[in-house]
Amino acid sequence: MEQQDFFSMPRIGDMAPDFSAVTTKGKIKFSEFAKDKWVVMFSHPADFTPVCTTEMTGFAKRKDEFTKLNTELLGLSIDSIHAHLGWVDNVRKNTGVYFDFPIIADLDMKVSKMYGMLQPNESETAAVRAVFFIDPKKKIRLIMYYPLNVGRNMNEILRVLEALQTAEKYKVAMPLDWQKGDKVIVPPPTTLEEMDARLLDKSIEITDFYLAHKQI
Ligand code: BEZ
Repeated sequence: MEQQDFFSMPRIGDMAPDFSAVTTKGKIKFSEFAKDKWVVMFSHPADFTPVCTTEMTGFAKRKDEFTKLNTELLGLSIDSIHAHLGWVDNVRKNTGVYFDFPIIADLDMKVSKMYGMLQPNESETAAVRAVFFIDPKKKIRLIMYYPLNVGRNMNEILRVLEALQTAEKYKVAMPLDWQKGDKVIVPPPTTLEEMDARLLDKSIEITDFYLAHKQI
């Protein structure tokens, strides 16, 4: 494989590259997938492996929480559709948990390469644990990359999804460790006029002109 092939790395703010793929729920064209919804697209290194099984189980068990946040899940690994089907069935038989969301069978690595999920110094054949948070306009809003040997944190995945949506809705920013219900950051002023107005604003909690919180 050409080294160059590995280096397609979409970045925050980029439009999500479009693709067609075979999934466990049939063929999809990404630009037509989940219209008007957020998408959490995530890769796992391989079917029938332990850490991946715990992670996929986590996504499946908390799918309702993603649905409440107007978000569709889309998994991916460099495995065949037959491996995917066998694994989904195996986990359902063993644990009763059903992976009820599409999982891309990316055998030709097309999507993995397009999204920088193949990181050759980690593995040349398996995708790393990536998570792409993509908004309803198909813009990439947040990216996580984890190595093969460390599973992701489902609370953090849901936390940042809610943080992104709340920041967008209220035109605010989220402080360290923000959780739903916590105060948010009022974006700092960008002109002297705004700075003077900010210092007189009684509706927000001002520490100084550049640091102010409010409850939403
Ligand atoms: C796992 O999911 O357990 C795993 C997959 C690939 C490499 C290492 C661990």
